Amino acid sequence: MRVSRKVEHLQHALQIGQSGEHGLSDIRFVHQCLPEQSLSSVSLETYIGELNLSSPIVINAMTGGAAETEEINRELAIAARETGIAMAVGSQMSALRHPEVRSSYTIVREMNPTGIVFGNLGSEATVDQAQQAVEMLQANALQIHLNPMQELIMPEGDRDFRGVLDRIARIVHAVSVPVIVKEVGFGITGEAARRLREIGVSIVDVGGFGGTNFAAIENERREESLAWLNDWGIPTSCSLLDVQKSCAPAHIMASGGIRNALDICKALAIGAGAAGLAGIFLKTLKTQGTSAVIQQINTLHAHIKLIMTGVGAATIEELWRVPFIIGGETAHWCYARGID
Ligand code: FNR
Repeated sequence: MRVSRKVEHLQHALQIGQSGEHGLSDIRFVHQCLPEQSLSSVSLETYIGELNLSSPIVINAMTGGAAETEEINRELAIAARETGIAMAVGSQMSALRHPEVRSSYTIVREMNPTGIVFGNLGSEATVDQAQQAVEMLQANALQIHLNPMQELIMPEGDRDFRGVLDRIARIVHAVSVPVIVKEVGFGITGEAARRLREIGVSIVDVGGFGGTNFAAIENERREESLAWLNDWGIPTSCSLLDVQKSCAPAHIMASGGIRNALDICKALAIGAGAAGLAGIFLKTLKTQGTSAVIQQINTLHAHIKLIMTGVGAATIEELWRVPFIIGGETAHWCYARGID
């Protein structure tokens, strides 16, 4: 049953596409007419937690667990290898329960033996499952996803979210790699991020509203739609600004609706060490193929360098210090949440 759900998620994600307002249009860089920067000096190297990355772009968690998904993971892993970027797999729980689908995940490591690969599990995972997930991929980090609203919209989803923080704490202490806790498109608050950091979580990926919309996807799968929940969630810009109250940028990943280099640069500037993109790479892969994904990533890299030059930042760390203005709903969020 989980296998067909994964294929349905892929189909609906492609059909619905990305929807909603991620809030990054509320952020404006302050133009610099004297940037004192040269494009050839700009470096895209960055770090999140203990991980050094050659690029701030990460292919975020999507899939695995069925024949069709093996093909997708293989091609995304090739794109990650060719462009030197990190990549996460989708939840590995199905491989732990059904060893016959393991290859749909391990293909990622096979295709990219020396690249940065993130494993992925839900917060129901046990310590033993977390260790197996890391070992399966020789993963460089383990993502644990939080998705209570998605589960609540799924008729077959979880209904009991007690004990999550304790389970994550046990996993953090048991696994040998950094743990990343992420949402899947509903956002994370500063308070939750602080509690996660206190138990040793290395990186918080805000997974904000405004991109792939799992309320809308699950509503497509339901007989009786709860479409009035399709707007639920904290926009990515608001979640990022909220989380940076309690976490340094080097411990934050931005994701949720990030589509272009300007979105990436804004997300980094307001306080993230890297940016995860999921739905947009899936769409390019399915409509135009692997070489188009490689081209898309190369173009994103070129455009990020162009913007960094324009704002006078030679490094991602310098981008964390460039001035920006916050307007619209994001400014309202900052005021209401006491963010300076
Ligand atoms: C996802 N996402 C996801 N996340 C996760 O932690 N584990 C998972 O198994 C999945 N599965 C999954 C399947 C599909 C088809 C998509 C498109 C996405 C969520 C993903 O990592 C990301 O958080 C959201 O998609 C928001 O980012 P984008 O798509 O707006 O860039």
